[in-house]
Amino acid sequence: MLLEVNGLTTKYGSISALRDVSLSVGAGEVVGLIGPNGAGKTTLLGSIAGLLSPSDGSVEFEGNSVTGHAPDKMLKAGLALVPEHRRIFVDLTVAENLRIGGVTVPKSDRAGLLDEMAELFPVLRDKWDTPAGFLSGGEAQQLAIARALMSRPTLLMMDEPSLGLAPVLVDVVFDLIEHLRDQGRTLLVVEQNATRMLEVADRAYVLRSGSVVAEGSGADLRSRSDLFDTFVGGAE
Ligand SMILES: Nc1ncnc2c1ncn2[C@@H]1O[C@H](COP(=O)(O)OP(=O)(O)O)[C@@H](O)[C@H]1O
Ligand SMILES: [Mg+2]
Repeated sequence: MLLEVNGLTTKYGSISALRDVSLSVGAGEVVGLIGPNGAGKTTLLGSIAGLLSPSDGSVEFEGNSVTGHAPDKMLKAGLALVPEHRRIFVDLTVAENLRIGGVTVPKSDRAGLLDEMAELFPVLRDKWDTPAGFLSGGEAQQLAIARALMSRPTLLMMDEPSLGLAPVLVDVVFDLIEHLRDQGRTLLVVEQNATRMLEVADRAYVLRSGSVVAEGSGADLRSRSDLFDTFVGGAE
């Protein structure tokens, strides 16, 4: 497995937001992570990406222990995160945002990566020199994903990429996930939109109150009517 998470526990103060969570992602897999608001999905991605320090458990990436490594080290190792709410630089242009995403790759590779992003994201190519603050929500989300891809990640993690987007743009995001899957990329995607996610995922994990309560293929989980309440969400 490319990513192996074992028995991960992460606390905010004395409260455990993740309890003994184990999960794996194989090379070339698209793995979904679903569950209601407050289930611990963002905490889990943050604990893998090095933004949060787990109090127990381990994270292995490409066979090496990377538990508690700093985010920049994780990025260099090939693990990129598209954070919740995108966090692009609104005063910088689209191209400048992308160049920042490429700082960890050799300079000689960056031009080629920019060309690749222009091809993958035609809407961005048309706004190359536009400050990112002028982009629509859907364009901004594509920029956030493109910026993460500029680091040429072995594993790309996305936190709620369709959140807050109009239905037509939700389609764009899921089409993109499918396209990235078809390119053979490895993805770990947090989504509130469970039905759509289970359609594109090879496998998925269902998180609830900080624990994994179900895992399986997308098709298996879609047939689990007992999980329906968890899928449709609602705050905990
Ligand atoms: N910075 C924080 N400080 C304290 N509690 C937090 C913090 N961030 C998240 N939590 C709590 O941890 C739990 C999991 O949150 P989160 O990982 O954001 O869930 P999800 O992404 O599934 O909605 C929630 O109960 C939330 O209130
Ligand atoms: Mg979240």
